[in-house]
Amino acid sequence: MGLVTSRNLGDLEYGFSTLVTLSTLLVGYFTYNYVLRRREYEADMALASQHGCQPMAVAYPVKWPLGFDVLKAQYINNANKRLFAFQQPHIDNLGPNFSMTLLGNTGYTTLDPDNIEAMLSSNFEDWCMGSRRNALHPFIGEGIFTQDGPAWKHSREMLRRPFLKTHYQDLKAFNQHVNNLISNLSSSTGVVDLQTHFYSFTLATTTTLIFGQAVESVEGEDRDTFANSFDYASWISSLRIRLQDFYWACRTNRYGDSCRTVKDFAGGFVDEALKNTDKEATAENSNGYAFIQDLYDELKDPVLVRDQLVNILLAGRDTTACLLSWTFFLLVRHPSTLSRLCQEIQSIIGDEQELARAHIQKMSYLKCVLNETLRLYPPVPINVRIAQRTTTIPRGGGPDGTSPVLVRRGTGIGYIPYYLHRRKDLYGEDALDFRPERWEDGKLDSIGWGYLPFHAGPRACLGKDFALMEASCAVVRIIQTFPDIRVPPEEKIVPTGQEKQNLTIFLASAEGCRVLLQ
Ligand code: HEM
Repeated sequence: MGLVTSRNLGDLEYGFSTLVTLSTLLVGYFTYNYVLRRREYEADMALASQHGCQPMAVAYPVKWPLGFDVLKAQYINNANKRLFAFQQPHIDNLGPNFSMTLLGNTGYTTLDPDNIEAMLSSNFEDWCMGSRRNALHPFIGEGIFTQDGPAWKHSREMLRRPFLKTHYQDLKAFNQHVNNLISNLSSSTGVVDLQTHFYSFTLATTTTLIFGQAVESVEGEDRDTFANSFDYASWISSLRIRLQDFYWACRTNRYGDSCRTVKDFAGGFVDEALKNTDKEATAENSNGYAFIQDLYDELKDPVLVRDQLVNILLAGRDTTACLLSWTFFLLVRHPSTLSRLCQEIQSIIGDEQELARAHIQKMSYLKCVLNETLRLYPPVPINVRIAQRTTTIPRGGGPDGTSPVLVRRGTGIGYIPYYLHRRKDLYGEDALDFRPERWEDGKLDSIGWGYLPFHAGPRACLGKDFALMEASCAVVRIIQTFPDIRVPPEEKIVPTGQEKQNLTIFLASAEGCRVLLQ
């Protein structure tokens, strides 16, 4: 024991008073938080009772703590490329709305058109993208896909204009790329994987739309580096999106390098277009740089323009390639559908050389085929929204699942067009079968929020018309050139939905789309 001097007595007093101050601040902080949370809880409960909300009736069964059994099963089936097929019977048992508690967090899943309409349209302002922004930001930066609220609204308004103006409207913009596709296919013999050709085709069409020239115009090595970097960055981004709040755990050096390569490449096109500010030169380019010019007039910042372009490339390239691959995957497995489509194309185009928008608009069976493909294989098969303030969804609560459910701020809801489109109560007992004729009698005209390949509401796809015209041109020209296209004899045929699938942000066939061209 030492002597108590006036100096260390002073230190003791100082230490004590610091402790008291800190304790007071901590108590104050926790009390304040508690009061805030309590108030928020009471307001949430008042909202629940005002809307007659009931707890979600059905919960996804978990056996192991924190739901590790579910995570393990999902991981294994995803690695085996059969995640959707594995989940289908569970979804059939659970019904259209259920809650799921994984790693201590409870969220909801819905395949209910009324709930999806509430999230994507009637209560649109209550929902946001959540961690999608951070998951995608290193790759696509600041753009329509990573934004919410006023920033998103601004991007949407701005991007809508060039879509209406650009020269794809008369289909001429697709001609050169479709010709290249056909000539590449013609030089291949025997069994061909169409899927790889479709990825190159949609890369060319989308880059022409946004950059004013196709990536083909760039020297071979740079172009391949760009395409590989884009694919790798997309793949890692899809893993980051799936990890939700843990997106940061997935970041490799190659990911950083790939994101930079994509940005540099896109930035090069922007710089070139901006050098070309001379109006006459732009007109000579058949308005090729319209997209970039339009965005720059508004944003006045080449980096922001570049990021918006990469956003559109991500949105437009793989989606349309997936649609085309699944279309031929199904057509060659359904020869009578293929033959009817062939007849329609022949009867509408006949000997005319140039394919026009008017021809495609007359092809009602082609429209049914594309509708049906998008129903069974929506390229964006699953999506999530997060409640940015406490809100309600109209169905899923109470013993019969028909009461509204309270969704508290921060809760996520996954909605899955893939299963929504396979609901037997909406599409009939043959919902799992490929039958384009189901779209013919007009009965599905009123399906509304039960059919969502392009989404609907304020955030619906901006490239829908572009994608459908692009896909239609490619389908028509391939069938005209190869009317006897068929499934290779050694190909194993399984029922739709049982084939191997690659699920990233998009849904692709894991074994490509092998066909015999003759
Ligand atoms: C078959 C092809 C396509 C399908 C199935 C498709 C589907 C979708 C879906 C489901 C969304 C909503 C995503 C969300 O909100 O989370 C979306 C948004 C979007 N799509 Fe597409 N898309 C396709 C092709 C294209 C193409 C070719 C482009 C452009 C060239 C494009 C541009 C966009 C843009 C800019 C958005 C963002 C809209 C917004 O957030 O306001 N899409 N698309």
